[in-house]
Amino acid sequence: MARNKIALIGAGQIGGTLALLAGIKELGDVVLFDIMEGTPQGKSLDLAEAAPVEGFDARMTGANDYSAIKDADVIIVTAGVPRKPGMSRDDLLGINLKVMESVGAGIKQYAPEAFVICITNPLDAMVWALQKSCGLPTNKVVGMAGVLDSARFRYFLAEEFNVSVEDVTAFVLGGHGDDMVPSVRYSTVAGIPLPDLIKMGWTTQEKLDAIVKRTRGGGGEIVNLLKTGSAFYAPASSAISMAESYLRDKRRVLPVAAHLTGQYGVNDMYVGVPVVIGKNGVEKVVEITLDAAEKEMFAKSVASVKTLVDACKTINPAFA
Ligand code: APR
Repeated sequence: MARNKIALIGAGQIGGTLALLAGIKELGDVVLFDIMEGTPQGKSLDLAEAAPVEGFDARMTGANDYSAIKDADVIIVTAGVPRKPGMSRDDLLGINLKVMESVGAGIKQYAPEAFVICITNPLDAMVWALQKSCGLPTNKVVGMAGVLDSARFRYFLAEEFNVSVEDVTAFVLGGHGDDMVPSVRYSTVAGIPLPDLIKMGWTTQEKLDAIVKRTRGGGGEIVNLLKTGSAFYAPASSAISMAESYLRDKRRVLPVAAHLTGQYGVNDMYVGVPVVIGKNGVEKVVEITLDAAEKEMFAKSVASVKTLVDACKTINPAFA
């Protein structure tokens, strides 16, 4: 049976980590694409040379021409410019919008059957622009944000409770911005919801509030520490879990930036919600009932995403 083909558009910090993880997990052969000459070739050769040591069989190639992504099964897009200290995800909008247009054209020409995962920020607006640019069905184009945001939430909660990260599930809704909605009600330790853990004396409301706040600022915390770029290990792991659910038809329920057509009262926008990812891409949007406070936070988050989408339409009226 032919191996799957995974094309990574952008061979930077996240792109390289994606390639390593895809190789180690033997998800398929990997093509790294970048506009920088030598970068994807050098990284893919370096990764191929790690394969004998790690014991994985995956062909690693680098390219500067879109024809290399031909017939890819999965495409993960990180092309663009990352945040620098003091820069918000939104500052990146103008630069990365143009990048999405060129990436979209490449995907449209060479890999119209692919499942596409966008990571480039500002995420919810970029995945929207990418879908419009490539013209693939909306169930085949998603954004990676919620898996990462909930992984950060899970890690902070596991630290607070001094338990394994494996036993903590967390739920984050809304846009991938500072007003995302980490849901305390739907997050659990071994199935026990966080509000019950407060009653059991495991933590306090104040501590949970601080963890929610830290989760919202999780990306910025890393940007401030690194100073020269943004997070890459956890974003890469998160996108790979989405790719794996598609390629292996696992039907995992994951929070992703998905195209909504009325669900949660949102129309023609990408916003973070739980979905089932299987062999057909997004197979179902899970609509949970939000309480009044969550509804208010979700609406605020959606409004921020809408501002960015509207800004895209102003920059390039062809998107309107
Ligand atoms: N086409 C293809 N690749 C491009 C293009 C383009 N038009 N423009 C830039 N690139 C490449 C750069 O050459 C670089 O190698 O995208 C890569 C981006 O890599 P990094 O700068 O290392 O950024 P990274 O940390 O991987 O983050 C990428 O993900 O989380 C988001 O905010 C982050 O938008 C950023 C993206």
